[in-house]
Amino acid sequence: MFILNSNADYRRPLVTGDAETLGLAAAESVERHLHFRENHAETPLTALPALAAATGVATIHVKDEGHRLGLGSFKALGGAYAVIRLVLEEAEARLGRPVDMAQLQSPDVRKIAETMCFACATDGNHGRSVAQGAGLVGARSAIFVHAGVSDERVAAIARFGAEMIRVAGSYDDSVKEAARVAKERGWTIVSDTSWPGYERIPGLVMQGYTALVREALRQLPAPPTHVFIQSGVGGIAAAIAGHLAIALGDQRPVFTVVDPARAACLFESARAGHPVTVPHGGPTVMAMLECYEPSLVAWRILSRVADAFMTVDEEDAVAIMKRLADPVGGDPVIIAGESGGVGLAGLLKAVADPTIKAALSIGQDSRIFVVNTEGATDPGKYQEIVGLSPEDVRARGAA
Ligand SMILES: Cc1ncc(COP(=O)(O)O)c(C=O)c1O
Repeated sequence: MFILNSNADYRRPLVTGDAETLGLAAAESVERHLHFRENHAETPLTALPALAAATGVATIHVKDEGHRLGLGSFKALGGAYAVIRLVLEEAEARLGRPVDMAQLQSPDVRKIAETMCFACATDGNHGRSVAQGAGLVGARSAIFVHAGVSDERVAAIARFGAEMIRVAGSYDDSVKEAARVAKERGWTIVSDTSWPGYERIPGLVMQGYTALVREALRQLPAPPTHVFIQSGVGGIAAAIAGHLAIALGDQRPVFTVVDPARAACLFESARAGHPVTVPHGGPTVMAMLECYEPSLVAWRILSRVADAFMTVDEEDAVAIMKRLADPVGGDPVIIAGESGGVGLAGLLKAVADPTIKAALSIGQDSRIFVVNTEGATDPGKYQEIVGLSPEDVRARGAA
């Protein structure tokens, strides 16, 4: 399914707060903060020339977030950043003086952090980031996971010292339960999704994601003409689309949001012209994108700056994982988790359909940018789908 954006807000400027959240000054401060992170390194940008030729476009570049901060997904940029910012703010308020990132590990700041507990609901990757951030500053974390989150993903979060809380039901149920318990216990919710009256912290999470766009704009030989980004609640798509719109203005690329057909909350919101909650379909292999309700802030941004919305099916997600693990024509190997290659799957679907291809004006001069949003964050699941372990695929030459 595919639609062009025809919302009333389309091509209206971002509202002031959103423009500040995703603006150049904010993105610069995110990058500055990253330089204090121990294992920070820019993630690779990989060109796929053979796939570009087969697809009939000039270039395809993949920003590979499987290498991000030791966590294996772009989510490492958001939750941990928000936790650190909140600790610095609390320290400023309690100490009555400005507190800079450089003082994060000072005894008086750590003492304050030790009194704080950060909570969130997660499909897996966001919780890992919040738990890592809390661990870094010496705070506690409590992470809520729904029934569908694999034991392997739970263990990966718990190793940062987080208290893990299982919730019956879906991701949306775990979001509600996390908010309820946190209110009761005085914990700070660091959610990657937003709702009426709760926007600032998810805004900080999205602000953290802008770092990958800044890196990509430096790494790309020329700015992209087309971008395809997968969506769960829409946070990463909105951060990338919003920052590109601010950074590139009239030269911004044609931006397509890619949803799983079984959890197409952004697609259906675009169709309705306002945020909608979609009914639960069957579980999707694109586990990190299994969200039925868009983030309010993400929707507000995407309704203005996304040009199109589309869905991909289960088999598209599986096919792209295999294709990236075993590329044709000498393209480099990329390890993409179940939700990682979905933007690229969207591109392949778009070019295979002449109507969509024409609607997006994709042609032989097009420069495509996509993000592999995760590596094999659930190695067991990866092996089940691809038929090889991540180590075996890495041995084929993946970065
Ligand atoms: C690997 C991966 N890709 C994409 C997404 C979607 O991000 P968002 O929920 O901000 O749309 C997520 C969310 O958890 C994710 O973990």
